[in-house]
Amino acid sequence: MELFDVYPLYDVEPVKAYGSRVVDKNGIEYLDLYGGHGVISIGHSHPHYVKRLEEQLEKIGFYSNAVQNSLQRELAEKLGKVSGYNDYQLFLCNSGAEANENALKLASFYTGKSRVIAFNNGFHGRTSAAVTVTDNIVIKAPLNAQQSVTFLPLNAIESLKKEVEKGDVCAVIIEAIQGVGGLDEGSTTFFKQLEVLCNEFGVILILDEVQSGYGRTGKFFAHQYHGIRPDIISVAKGMGNGFPIGGVLIAPHIKPNYGMLGTTFGGNHLACTAALAVLEIIEKENLIDNARNIGDYFTARINHLFEINKVKGRGLMLGVEFDFEVSKLRKRLIYEEHIFTGGAKNKKLLRILPPLTIDKTAIDQFVNTLEHLLVPN
Ligand SMILES: Cc1ncc(COP(=O)(O)O)c(C=O)c1O
Repeated sequence: MELFDVYPLYDVEPVKAYGSRVVDKNGIEYLDLYGGHGVISIGHSHPHYVKRLEEQLEKIGFYSNAVQNSLQRELAEKLGKVSGYNDYQLFLCNSGAEANENALKLASFYTGKSRVIAFNNGFHGRTSAAVTVTDNIVIKAPLNAQQSVTFLPLNAIESLKKEVEKGDVCAVIIEAIQGVGGLDEGSTTFFKQLEVLCNEFGVILILDEVQSGYGRTGKFFAHQYHGIRPDIISVAKGMGNGFPIGGVLIAPHIKPNYGMLGTTFGGNHLACTAALAVLEIIEKENLIDNARNIGDYFTARINHLFEINKVKGRGLMLGVEFDFEVSKLRKRLIYEEHIFTGGAKNKKLLRILPPLTIDKTAIDQFVNTLEHLLVPN
């Protein structure tokens, strides 16, 4: 059987990884400034994470959601404490798209309505409702046209007001900082007005923190820079450091009932153990502070390169915008310099999403490499 060929692949095969380094099958070591698409939070193969998973696997790896699993409660408690959302409820699933799918479904159940407001350039995943609220026509099948969504520009509060006043909106979904779209972010004024409008018109505010959450931006959640409290928060990527897990944090006024949501694999023993180990390491190693400090260091070091238009984002969720398209530069970085970086919908943007454990030496290596690559021939 052939693989269903949907990914344009770089010709590199990682077989081993540690910290912020990845080693390919030829023994070549790479600096990982991409974290496998913002997934690696605590670094590759962290010994505490490996030990926790090995020990759990020896006991029990999986059983269904029809029986008690105290690891889920432990995770909810720990996540509530670390994130500042102690009074919220947690639903566990397996990916970012699934987290958003469940978030949107909950908003619709709660309000009895179905139209969603989303934002230009936003990305929320590839499943049914998640892809509908994603601003990319290429990845939507005709089947996805059945749901009702209105796209608005970021910061367009007056347009947003006009839409929610119509009374048929169940949710506004927004990334705290746009990832795939290219690191744009609403202003604090906008986020605050958005929260007020959602409360006033009974609309559920969903913050997609799938990429920006889990300390990546220098706070546990990027929306915490704006002093708002959404009704629902979706998480995934950094949550399991590569073990597939996603979650929905749900405000106390949204009440559950049996059968409302469900999943076979979500919240299994191994996934919860991975997620617990991640939170333990984030706390113990002060990784949220590290993300903020190293992010500041990165921005200060790179800003002087004259080919750079600007550095976008916060902490270790960064985009470096050049005055040229970066695909060739990314290839040179991988094949010649052995550094992984990411791309975006904005073709001039290099995305930097390293493990939150990264240090200044690695940033120096990257900046020095760029200086040398950007020297005109
Ligand atoms: C902000 C955001 N939401 C949702 C998703 C979808 O997550 P997944 O690929 O785990 O379904 C992504 C993935 O890149 C994302 O960046």
